[in-house]
Amino acid sequence: MRVDILTLFPQMFDGFLSASIIGRARERQLVDIRVHNIRDYARDKHRTVDDYPYGGGAGMVLKPEPIFEAVEAIKSELYVSFVPIILLTPQGRLFNQELARQLAGFSSIMLICGRYEGVDERVAEYLATDEISIGDYLLSGGEVAAMAVVDSVVRLLPGVLGSEESLDDDSHTRGLLEYPQYTRPAVYRGWTVPSVLLSGDHGAIAKWRRQQSLMRTAKRRPDLLAKVALSDEEKRLLSEVFQSSC
Ligand code: ADE
Repeated sequence: MRVDILTLFPQMFDGFLSASIIGRARERQLVDIRVHNIRDYARDKHRTVDDYPYGGGAGMVLKPEPIFEAVEAIKSELYVSFVPIILLTPQGRLFNQELARQLAGFSSIMLICGRYEGVDERVAEYLATDEISIGDYLLSGGEVAAMAVVDSVVRLLPGVLGSEESLDDDSHTRGLLEYPQYTRPAVYRGWTVPSVLLSGDHGAIAKWRRQQSLMRTAKRRPDLLAKVALSDEEKRLLSEVFQSSC
């Protein structure tokens, strides 16, 4: 997959792109991530990327020309008929695992990071194919949001996660939160690991984990649980834990 990121602050991506799972995926050429400075596409001698808002008001607005020209120049290098052009903005639709999964299916995506008070609306209207927000809070710009999107998409690409980092049990993969995890020591400051995990009984461990996952989701994110189609077995497990905790 190829990912093109347009930003006024390319340096913000340095650590993100070189470390951990993303760094390894790039080294192994499972993903080609390119960061472009929007300022490089500004044509005037001051390389102006922003201007005052029409109608007045505080702050500056990103101009349309450098963004359109950047997107068009990059797009002309891609041999694909459709590339999602995503504007990161608090006004976009809320990002989630399902959206990450859909984006992971494209061979190429482009992300535009907004800044300042906003981006000229013509970018959203005539250039972007989608607007995405990573949550109902305000960031200083789209860069951190773009990193969140890239991270969640890249880890879904074939071969990126080793078998030891399997996707199956992760929170949100099935719309449920993950069960609690423990490692050694078995007793730390007097706090013990649940004895079932030390029992070696794989059936009992699997059942405990499923129950924990269901219970956590019910308690912390009832909105998620309401969307998941539970099997009869899962409904039984859930009522069993609730009865024993009451
Ligand atoms: N830019 C500023 N805040 C944002 C958010 N919550 N999501 C995406 N982009 C943003």
